[in-house]
Amino acid sequence: MMEQDLGAAMFGSEFKARAFPVYASMRQSGPVVRVALPSGESFCLVTRYAECLELLKEHERFANDPANALSEEEYAALFQQVAEGLTPEQQEFLAQTDEILSRNLLAVDPPDHSRLRRLVAIPFTPKYIEGLRARVQEIANDLLDAVEARSAKTGSREMELIDDFAYPLPLTVIAEMLGIPAGDRDRFREWSAAAVSFTPADPANPEITAKLIEFIAYLRGLVAEKRADPGDDLLSGLVLAEAEGDKLSENELLSMMFLLIVAGHETTVNLIGNGTLALFDFPDQRARLDEYPGLLKSAIEEMLRYYGPVEMSLARWVRAETELGGEPLRRGERIMALLASANHDEAQFSEPETFDISRDPNRHLAFGTGIHACLGAALARLEGQVAFATLLSRLPNLALAIPRDDVQWRDGTFLRGLTRLPVAY
Ligand code: HEM
Repeated sequence: MMEQDLGAAMFGSEFKARAFPVYASMRQSGPVVRVALPSGESFCLVTRYAECLELLKEHERFANDPANALSEEEYAALFQQVAEGLTPEQQEFLAQTDEILSRNLLAVDPPDHSRLRRLVAIPFTPKYIEGLRARVQEIANDLLDAVEARSAKTGSREMELIDDFAYPLPLTVIAEMLGIPAGDRDRFREWSAAAVSFTPADPANPEITAKLIEFIAYLRGLVAEKRADPGDDLLSGLVLAEAEGDKLSENELLSMMFLLIVAGHETTVNLIGNGTLALFDFPDQRARLDEYPGLLKSAIEEMLRYYGPVEMSLARWVRAETELGGEPLRRGERIMALLASANHDEAQFSEPETFDISRDPNRHLAFGTGIHACLGAALARLEGQVAFATLLSRLPNLALAIPRDDVQWRDGTFLRGLTRLPVAY
């Protein structure tokens, strides 16, 4: 295993622009690469497809909850590290809310994971999600109607694809599913951005913590409203399950809401944004899609593989001394699947740097795999299909409105998404 001093550099937006060749050399150097942070800590990144599969599938060897891999002292030290740099009030609040931030589906192991996942599985099944298609289509049409109405007034045939379309589409869908009042939705952008901008290089950022604290306070208020006046939305259903006592605790309920809101906000926006960029980057594939719209589903899978919205999985914790791809791992080490690298692994995909909308097979890991595989995959795929079908048929002249070199990836460790994507149409 090669120690790489990529450190904090890996988490900036500029790194993302040149990441794929770096990942290729990381795959060459080994299946597991240790990355050192300026703080002196290190964590492991799994670079190759086969070992990413193993890491994500073998939850008995690799825990999502650090408490299942660390001793009590080690766990306490981890929490202490996050608390450093916060004001005493923030530390106090964080101590109270840690349960909430750390009890979501992605942060727990079986048996809690199986119990919690069962509670939300049904509304996310492909069959149920298909029933949302007409409403998703309506939302997509309304957004483009608004863009066209604005251009009729201003005469400008430009829009900012992220703000005008890619962001509000999935946001409206998940907010309606969950039953979040329309007037509250604008406040979510900052909160969920805070939730995903956390990086291991800067674990104790007080501004981010302050936002998370506000977010949790809002969620508590929303639960109280749903208790008083339940609707037929997903949150009301979870509130009812909580009232039954043994299915889910209040902290688990808040935690689930937190995860669904953040996951529903910060991912599909990037499928639409990154996928559009891929079509601009590969005009021959765009022309094929225009000619054969039946390739749309397969094109979306390739967008997910090529510029997947999730760059790396959340951390797993090594439960007991083991190995991965022959590399020894110590108990308590923190290890992530570098999904973006697995999805460009030449051992799994022929010509991985070619964007091919008819790639088959295309068993990418953009939605993860194993027990924590994305709950929202069917929803994200439906949103992607509706978004691209609507965008490309209504705005066939869509083109990048800024130089390609000015397109920037957002900061942050776990996601790959664009800051903005100005387009002409
Ligand atoms: C293109 C869009 C999306 C992508 C690429 C994506 C990707 C992922 C990935 C890679 C994971 C696993 C992470 C890990 O194992 O560490 C995951 C889990 C999850 N995703 Fe998504 N996601 C997307 C959209 C959504 C949506 C729309 C929702 C729902 C609101 C959602 C809800 C979840 C949940 C709840 C989990 C945790 C599942 C569990 O731990 O059992 N995702 N997603």
